[in-house]
Amino acid sequence: MIFIVDFGSQTAHLIGRRLRQLGVTTQYCDPEEVLDAIKTKKPKGIILSGGPASVYEKGAPTVSKNLFDLGIPILGICYGWQLMAKLLGGEVKNTAKEYGPEFLKVSPHSNARRDLMKSGVVIMSHGDTVTKLPQGFTAVASTRSVAYASVAAEKHRLYGVQFHPEAHHTEQGLLLLQNFTENVCGESLAPLSLNPQKIIENIRNRVGNKKVICAVSGGVDSTVTAFLIGKAIGKNLIPVYVDSGLMRPETDKRVKHIFTQLIKAPLVIVDARKEFLRALKGRTDPEEKRKTIGKLYVDIFQKEATKHKDASFLGQGTIYSDVIESKGSKLASHIKSHHNVGGLPNDMKFQLVEPLRSFYKDEVREIGKIAGLPNDIINQHPFPGPGYAVRIRGEVTRERLAQIKIADGIVMEEIKNANLYGSVFQSFAVMSGAYSTAVKGDGRVFAEVVAIRAYESMDIMTSQWAHIPYEVLARMSSRIVNEVPNVSRVVYDITTKPPATMEWE
Ligand code: XMP
Repeated sequence: MIFIVDFGSQTAHLIGRRLRQLGVTTQYCDPEEVLDAIKTKKPKGIILSGGPASVYEKGAPTVSKNLFDLGIPILGICYGWQLMAKLLGGEVKNTAKEYGPEFLKVSPHSNARRDLMKSGVVIMSHGDTVTKLPQGFTAVASTRSVAYASVAAEKHRLYGVQFHPEAHHTEQGLLLLQNFTENVCGESLAPLSLNPQKIIENIRNRVGNKKVICAVSGGVDSTVTAFLIGKAIGKNLIPVYVDSGLMRPETDKRVKHIFTQLIKAPLVIVDARKEFLRALKGRTDPEEKRKTIGKLYVDIFQKEATKHKDASFLGQGTIYSDVIESKGSKLASHIKSHHNVGGLPNDMKFQLVEPLRSFYKDEVREIGKIAGLPNDIINQHPFPGPGYAVRIRGEVTRERLAQIKIADGIVMEEIKNANLYGSVFQSFAVMSGAYSTAVKGDGRVFAEVVAIRAYESMDIMTSQWAHIPYEVLARMSSRIVNEVPNVSRVVYDITTKPPATMEWE
């Protein structure tokens, strides 16, 4: 058993997921309860997660200094390492900020346990960093601007890293966690496999003979969710597809196919296109838009539920990346209200059934695959619940919706023609809200800029922008300025996550 002390990092839960992948049992603790928890549970090691605070900030979360005297191996990650350094007499300053990938170089002079760290790309996301090591610590690895990117106090089995080993885009991250848990803490590893049957049993126990209104969109998460709920409760599953007008044009067909061919359930389709446009009129703030959409969805599902006796549950394909960005843990920052989590109204009458809530995208795909869903469903690109509304920066109007549908269709078509669909995680067009000048047919045009976003990811928590061949980008650009009315220019978004989120809003 390894303890993970959660200081509120967006990726704190991902540490547990990585250890689960290795077959290690974990327990999350709040900083103030860790010493008490140790007395009863006796963990073999402790990981201090990252977090949004700064160690010198008033009210910054902390742990007792005694934690480091217990002889239990400890790995501090980002904020966790900064806090360990501060408590043990080191110094932390707001000097070298790093957001995104950096190269980690293991020092050839380090005497520390070499097999714990390897040189390679690491994901950074910090404003503060340790500038003076506490006594007994030596530097193991550095980046361009951080001298103590990885450190060790071997004698006391204390380790610190400024980067995030739990992030998929940290090249040797899993190896580091494996070395820490296996070689330093002495845990024996027994990788677990995901078990859809267990999830199905849990749903059955929870729901009993009540009915579940299940929000479906034809996407991976809601389809796997509906599939598992269907296996658990059979005819008591009522899939409801709300046509918000914000989804891709082919969504209707896809949903109908799923619920006649793959999951035999009486699909309800609600045409709410006008309602959504009306509700979004004049709204430009991203959070306000998300909350408006979340509320409208729930209102529609609640109305639908009144038509069915005993429909007291709402099934949603929520996954963990939705949860954490909507302030999913006590100390986490709120990044955006995913419509199905932070966007839900407080007075909702439903109980939620979200069987995939603690899983990441790649795990959901694996669960769907084991459960028997076909590859074209499992491997399709994700599409957000609020649809094009979060890809239209600012107000959603009928005209901008029509523009984005054409632009997005072009991006997707060119990605498929270039055989990139399988290697790219998500690709789409964005109505950027920026305006620029163009010349079309010798006349001046001052019109909106379309951005293209395409990236590679595994679990959505981190991503790298996709290195799409220039000729494919050129075709997309030329087609968009020609085929989409009132567009002046096309740009390609080359920002990693972190810092930028996938969607623009
Ligand atoms: P971000 O922009 O948060 O996106 O980095 C991460 C993934 O989540 C999708 N996304 C959403 N999905 N409801 C959803 O169902 C939402 O409110 C929402 N916002 C973003 C996004 O497309 C990406 O795959």
